[in-house]
Amino acid sequence: MSQSKTPFDVGLLRADFPILDREIGTAKLIYLDSAATAQKPTVVIEAMNDFYRLSNANIHRGVHTLAEEATAMYEKGREQVANFINAASAREVIFTRNTTESINLVAHTWARANLNAGDVILLTEMEHHSNLVPWQILAAERGVRLEFVPVTEDYLFDMDAYGELLKLEPKLVAFTQMSNVLGTITPAKEIIKLAHDAGAIALVDAAQSVPHLPVDVQALDADFLAFSAHKMLGPSGIGALYGKMDLLKAMPPFLGGGDMIKTVHLRSFVANQVPYKFEAGTPAIAEAIGFGAAAEYLQNIGMNALMAHEHELTKYALERLEEIPSIKVFGPSAENKGGVASFTMEGIHPHDIAQILDGEGIAVRAGHHCAQPLHEKIGIPATTRASFYLYNTKEEIDALVAGIYKVKEIFG
Ligand code: ALA
Repeated sequence: MSQSKTPFDVGLLRADFPILDREIGTAKLIYLDSAATAQKPTVVIEAMNDFYRLSNANIHRGVHTLAEEATAMYEKGREQVANFINAASAREVIFTRNTTESINLVAHTWARANLNAGDVILLTEMEHHSNLVPWQILAAERGVRLEFVPVTEDYLFDMDAYGELLKLEPKLVAFTQMSNVLGTITPAKEIIKLAHDAGAIALVDAAQSVPHLPVDVQALDADFLAFSAHKMLGPSGIGALYGKMDLLKAMPPFLGGGDMIKTVHLRSFVANQVPYKFEAGTPAIAEAIGFGAAAEYLQNIGMNALMAHEHELTKYALERLEEIPSIKVFGPSAENKGGVASFTMEGIHPHDIAQILDGEGIAVRAGHHCAQPLHEKIGIPATTRASFYLYNTKEEIDALVAGIYKVKEIFG
């Protein structure tokens, strides 16, 4: 995977993100909500602006210069994204709207073509709603059976329970590589290997992992891997589904319409080749270009260097937060955790905490973070979540801690 091409200098990197100069009221913005969406570097914003300023046209349709430029830029975006996750071929990357749509695509095509009543799908208790609800809909429609790998008391993927559940001979194991609430990093390679040994295929929800860890789909041997551009410094409105070519070729199309066909007659059509078979209608062209620019930007920084920086921040954040009386942080210890700190404070609602922190210029998220079943499991309705990325600093964590002391003061 990518090696760092420059020393990791957070001060220099911050200058790439114009929004970080913003003030919220009179306070300087401290953005600790990157697990919801990441901020965008100038190189991404400019790549999209340049497309609209200079090359805007529809793709795969025209022969004029702009149409050819637009098509080449869109396909370059696919190559940059494929390269970022080390896909064997750019054709194994399908552009979707987001992680949610990527997972729904698999549920609508591969799963409906391959699963029948009684077949087992294994999920985990820490899934985001986007890796639960598509399978619940399928279960109601097809009678497939959903089973769940528990989260251990230490907030980890329960390997022993997984071993037992694999005896049910699931057809699909679909799991998160990093929990958006706990930060838990799951042992994806081992999970996939065991799934394959049991005859299942494996889908990885990589929405939170691809932005923060080196992810190599070939090393993982993932069958499907879903992620979004907007959490990895790219634009919203575009995501990707990686799929192994043999699986993608055998799958029926997803949405019907333009571009996903080779030929159409009044009563029939022949589907286009992969990946176009799954990209009906005019896609998010500027966004694909921005997605590619984001992937290249991250690759130039080096995902190992980025991960080391975030690990330092996470370790520091856990130490500082845990020294505050009456706060409880959920999730494993720093070595198994990405840059997420979800916490509760005795007697204070998470929304109140987030609101007071906003008054200090600090952006965090409060709620169930689209993972209600996980919150049910740990017995709380909601948490306040601070999440970190390459542009955050220890000083910002100090400001968060000071903000939390202010919350305590206000609530007595
Ligand atoms: N899934 C995103 C989050 O965790 C939106 O905030």
